[in-house]
Amino acid sequence: MKVRRIGVLTSGGDAPGMNACVRAVVRAAIHHGFEVYGIRRGWHGLIQGDVVRLQIRDVSRIINRGGTILYTARSKEFMTPEGQQKAANTCKFLGLDSVIAIGGDGTFRGAQALSKFGVNVIGIPATIDNDIGCTNYCLGFDTAANTAIECIDKLRDTMQSHERCSVVEVMGRHAGFLAMYVGLAAGATAVLVPEHPVSYEELVEKIRKARLNGFSHYMVVVAEGAASGDEVANAIREATGLDPRVTVLGHIQRGGDPTGRDRVAATKMGYLAVDLLNQGLTNRIVCTKDGGFTHVDMDEGLSTKKNMQRMEMDVLDAMTGL
Ligand code: F6P
Repeated sequence: MKVRRIGVLTSGGDAPGMNACVRAVVRAAIHHGFEVYGIRRGWHGLIQGDVVRLQIRDVSRIINRGGTILYTARSKEFMTPEGQQKAANTCKFLGLDSVIAIGGDGTFRGAQALSKFGVNVIGIPATIDNDIGCTNYCLGFDTAANTAIECIDKLRDTMQSHERCSVVEVMGRHAGFLAMYVGLAAGATAVLVPEHPVSYEELVEKIRKARLNGFSHYMVVVAEGAASGDEVANAIREATGLDPRVTVLGHIQRGGDPTGRDRVAATKMGYLAVDLLNQGLTNRIVCTKDGGFTHVDMDEGLSTKKNMQRMEMDVLDAMTGL
């Protein structure tokens, strides 16, 4: 396999660190003597042939910026074989022999489909949900978690003063990794995640025990995939007579300057993606394992499920004296 021209795109929900990763891909590609093109608006842009040549200085001063300079999108057309064929035709027409796709699970499924048309693909995990099975870490998670923690710390000040119960809804449509991490870091009374459903009776019991242990304010963190903040607050209100305040952190969590951890991981992952193509490897997902950076076969990576350890719940309960 001789790589000459690489396309790079960001797709799905954006994540802090995507820009740092685009920068790393561009600079590593040029370092290896490849041409590199930015594909705008993810798979949608590839179908449209919306590409721009990127040179070293085109990616200056973006390592520290949230969002993605390439824009992102969720393309329905690319989900169809016709859309995939169109995207493959664009690659052929433009001479793009390889595409590096930065995003989450859906982005990688797109890459997997494109690979069947003979395009070399490499995936780089970036989603604040941190829910890709084959990697311990996805770009954006650290920044998003720190943003949420900072918000919860502020909420705690006012909840404590008023001796209130606070319900904070964090992102995570299908996964509770962000909610659990944030809950542990913020000292939550309880965390509700889709992976380990907890009944409202159990939740109320946690609040009751906290009260018996002398607490007069309570912090409940809920992943949006487990329940809405309002539902949880209503259940608490009915069962306890408390008057919880709901805060939905929403898309705030997806923005902001990437942390040092995200910048460094993005830079290493971008470099590694290009290095794989340079070695003649394709159809891989860059990932982290045992504290280091590595890569797995895309089909294998996509069939790996990420499990949340029951221990996380146990630790949380122990910290609130349950
Ligand atoms: O990026 C993943 C994610 O943040 C989910 O947790 C969330 O449900 C979803 O994106 C929402 O994305 P959007 O509002 O852009 O459709």
